[in-house]
Amino acid sequence: MASSANLEDIPSMDLMTELLRRMKCATKPDKRLILVGPPGSGKGTQSPIIKDEYCLCHLATGDMLRAAVAAKTPLGIKAKEAMDKGELVSDDLVVGIIDEAIKKPSCQKGFILDGFPRTVVQAEKLDEMLAKKGTKVDKVLNFAIDDAILEERITGRWIHPSSGRTYHSKFAPPKVPGIDDVTGEPLIQRKDDTAAVLRSRLEAFHRQTEPVIDYYSKKGVVAQLHADQPPNVVTAEVQKVLSS
Ligand code: AP5
Repeated sequence: MASSANLEDIPSMDLMTELLRRMKCATKPDKRLILVGPPGSGKGTQSPIIKDEYCLCHLATGDMLRAAVAAKTPLGIKAKEAMDKGELVSDDLVVGIIDEAIKKPSCQKGFILDGFPRTVVQAEKLDEMLAKKGTKVDKVLNFAIDDAILEERITGRWIHPSSGRTYHSKFAPPKVPGIDDVTGEPLIQRKDDTAAVLRSRLEAFHRQTEPVIDYYSKKGVVAQLHADQPPNVVTAEVQKVLSS
């Protein structure tokens, strides 16, 4: 928590904005959401919008693992090989990351899990974790889309590493190619965003992650999205599902 000395240094307008944000958040219902879909289906694009609307934390296991790989932590060293090949990392590694992350104060009103759970074992472990806290998953948003559309989305994706802002050379181009609109810093492409690695990622999705959708369908919490539509149309679908 910031000390009073730190607070004095924060401009009044910023403090007011934060206060108003917190007041608005207090009126929002708690939500525990899972976003599931193949690579490039738009989970990372929609997450920040849902996060702001409902004051949730956004936990993307892929981003967390990439940060660990870049920092060469023991976790990152273990995860790197599987990630480079487009395979899943071990259940124990990712379950441990999520167990820690959902305790953060920013997750107090709930969370968006983006890219987790990706196996039925992970889903069972998550449900156990939540049951211990007396809560459960409220909704699973299934980003349904045909595989054929995904190669163009994945190979055209550009990322601003420090903010996580995502662009697409055709569908959401930056103002200057290769440059972040906000900071002017260079954009990068992910190492696993090639057509060849995408094939392994899709294979892992169909074999290991689709059963997660069946697992939560039996619990009656899955909502279908038509993720092949333009981003703003998908956003409208998400909002409809979450307000019902
Ligand atoms: P992760 O980082 O989770 O990758 P992913 O699931 O493959 O998902 P992506 O980030 O590629 O896709 P997205 O749906 O977020 O697409 P986006 O919105 O950016 O995982 C990477 C690796 O980490 C895994 O392979 C695995 O090794 C490991 N891992 C992670 N979690 C794990 C777990 N739980 N267990 C085990 N291993 C794990 O959109 C893509 C592009 O399309 C963007 O350029 C965007 O601008 C554009 N776009 C988005 N929506 C639209 C639209 N509606 N129309 C047109 N273009 C659009």
